[in-house]
Parts: sequence; structure tokens; C-alpha cells
Amino acid sequence: MEQLRVGFIGTGRISDLHALGYLGDDRARIVAVCDVNEEVARQRGRAWGVPEDRIFTDYRDLLALPDVDLVENLLPHHLHYQSTLDIAAAGKHISLQKPMALTVEQADEMIAAAKRAGVIFKVFENFIFYPPIQRAKALIDAGEIGDPLTIRIKSNSGISPNEWEIPGTAWAWRFNRETCGGGPLVFDDGHHKFSLGWYFMGEIAEEVHAWIGETEFAPGLVLDSPAAVTWKFSNNRFGLFEAVRSPELVMDTNHYAQDDRIEITGTKGVIWITRGHGKMLDIPPVILYRDRQTRTFSDMPVGWEHSFINSTRHFIDAYFKGEPPSLTAEQGRDILRFALAAQESARTGRAVSLK
Ligand SMILES: NC(=O)c1ccc[n+]([C@@H]2O[C@H](COP(=O)([O-])OP(=O)(O)OC[C@H]3O[C@@H](n4cnc5c(N)ncnc54)[C@H](O)[C@@H]3O)[C@@H](O)[C@H]2O)c1
Repeated sequence: MEQLRVGFIGTGRISDLHALGYLGDDRARIVAVCDVNEEVARQRGRAWGVPEDRIFTDYRDLLALPDVDLVENLLPHHLHYQSTLDIAAAGKHISLQKPMALTVEQADEMIAAAKRAGVIFKVFENFIFYPPIQRAKALIDAGEIGDPLTIRIKSNSGISPNEWEIPGTAWAWRFNRETCGGGPLVFDDGHHKFSLGWYFMGEIAEEVHAWIGETEFAPGLVLDSPAAVTWKFSNNRFGLFEAVRSPELVMDTNHYAQDDRIEITGTKGVIWITRGHGKMLDIPPVILYRDRQTRTFSDMPVGWEHSFINSTRHFIDAYFKGEPPSLTAEQGRDILRFALAAQESARTGRAVSLK
């Protein structure tokens, strides 16, 4: 059987969840890994069954291997641009974590380079593959709430006794605008929330307005909280994203100490997705109200890791069928443009048009 042979560049915090979809699918195999931190590269490479001589600290060595078809690029944001150009030049397909770059110009160059090289270029997005999100989308597509009018996305960040361990280095580049491109909540994680707005409403917004506050997260580290981003789609439809960190809000989680809630209002009903990363509310993950009745949906996996597994499975399916992945690099570029426009709006205090 033909297998998709995958190399990982960057085996940091999030790589554990990326590996799951490949390790659990006979159609793919992780054949090489690279991280400048050799200990981290060896630890993950060994755990995933990668031979010792295919564990590297310089990604050019991984790119030189003829039997790597696809590269999972899991580097910090400021390294996405050059590394992606290098992956394309090596003739490998690309799965790149979001946001794809720090500027739209960089994203355009990366897309052009992948086209020239004739390789697939995907921007990795997992939230749209989270099972409660997919169930809500199926209900909306079936007409359960009528035509969607507004989407409200709320992200609570707090603390947790069972949060996974996050290396200090993973915080350091996120809290630096030069390396992250914006703040951790509104630019980094916000990319997912803006992807959800696009996914549910079927289009990128025409105009965005944002207020982004500042809170001390730890000595010397300033978090972009609280924040409110509002945007307008065509046909008088609206989106809202609120991000807030509560320093004493305790929650359970297997990953980050953060949880999300979404409410989508349509012409005849309302749908709620009551969870995301964490496990704050002890209520069904999807709730639908219409025609004087509330229906709840609990028959789906709710672990956040399933969003990654499903996203990877979707990509493997698309690869073997020769279909476009989700997100395509072009879709990733449009969401990046939106995320940067929100940053610009917060800086200037004015709405930014995306028309
Ligand atoms: N989809 C999601 O929900 C989600 C969640 C977390 C992170 N991410 C994204 O994943 C990416 C990585 O985030 P993370 O949290 O794993 O960060 P991290 O800092 O834990 O991991 C990055 C790794 O890259 C390595 N590295 C740095 N420079 C390198 C180089 N030149 N060559 C090889 N390795 C190098 C570091 O040593 C580190 O291990 C980012 O793009 C981030 O936005 C996405």
C-alpha cells in the first residue's frame, strides 16, 4: 500500500497532537523529525518509532531525504516563512501550522513558491474539525437554525491543576510580537476563532473592528486580554470574538487552561457549542433551540485532541483522492489578512475594511 511519508520540523509542545493522526492511520508514517533542541527531537522521534539516524537538529538534513513526501512545519511563527520556502524548494508537500506568516506579503510569496514547486500547501487548522463544531455545522447545513445571522465566540483563559506542561521557550516567542506577530490570545489563538467565523458563515468578513487590552500574565509578560473583535460579513451578518483571561478561574483540561463557547443565531433558531480546549461547563457539547424546544447532542467525542486527529485524517484522505485540503494556503492567507486587520484596528482605533 502506498504510504504518505511525513517529516516533522519542530517537535515542540503541539507536535504530540499532530503525531496522533499519523500514528493511528496505516496510510501514513512519520519517517523523520527535526528540532534544534536535540533532546526534544530524540524524545519525540523515539516515541513515534523514527530511526535514530533520521532524527535531526538541522532541518536541511531532513529536507535532503528523498523518501519524505510531506513536511509538518511546527516552528514558531517568525520561522514559518523561510522554512516553508525551503520545504517547497526541496519539493516536499507542506502542512504548516497557523498563522502561516507574519505578513500577507510573506504568505503570497510562500503560496507562489509552492505553486512553482508543484507541491500541496496546506495551512493546518484543527478547530473546524472539532467534533462538536462539525456537528453544529451539520445541523446548520441541514437548515435547523435557518440562515445564520451572527456568530459569537468567547474564549476564557484561566488556570488549571491538570494543564499540560508548556515549556518556557514556547511562551517566550509567543509573548514577543516580533516572533509571534501579535498577542497570544487575539493573534495566535484568534486565528482559530476567525477560522471558525469563516467556516460557519462561509466567507471572510468585509470589515473588522477591535479593542485589545493588556494584562500582566507574569512578570515582564503582557497578555492581550481582555479583547473584543467585531466584524461584518456581507448581507448584514456579524461576528464577535471576546478573549479574556481570569487569573483565578480554575478549570479542568488535558491541554491548555482555556475554554471556548460559541453561539450562532439564525433566522429561526440558535445553536451553542459549549466547549473547546478545556472542560469548564458540565453540559452537553451542542445545544439547539428552535420552535419552542431545546435539543441537546452529546453523542460525539469531546477531547480537543480529536480536532487534530480529524484534521490530519481529512488531509490524508484529500491527499490520496487528489482533492484540496482544508485550509488551502489561500484560505489560510485570507484568515491571516483578517487577523492582521484586527491588529491594525486595535492600533489605530478605526474599523479596517477588507473589501
Ligand atoms: N492548532 C493549535 O491549536 C495550536 C496550538 C499550539 C500551537 N500551535 C502552533 O504550532 C506551532 C508551534 O507551537 P508550539 O506550541 O509547539 O511551540 P514550541 O515552542 O513548543 O515548539 C516549537 C519547536 O520548534 C523548535 N525550533 C525552533 N527553531 C527551530 C529550527 N530552526 N529548526 C528546528 N526546530 C526549531 C523549538 O526548539 C521547539 O521545540 C506554532 O505555529 C503555533 O501557532 C497551534
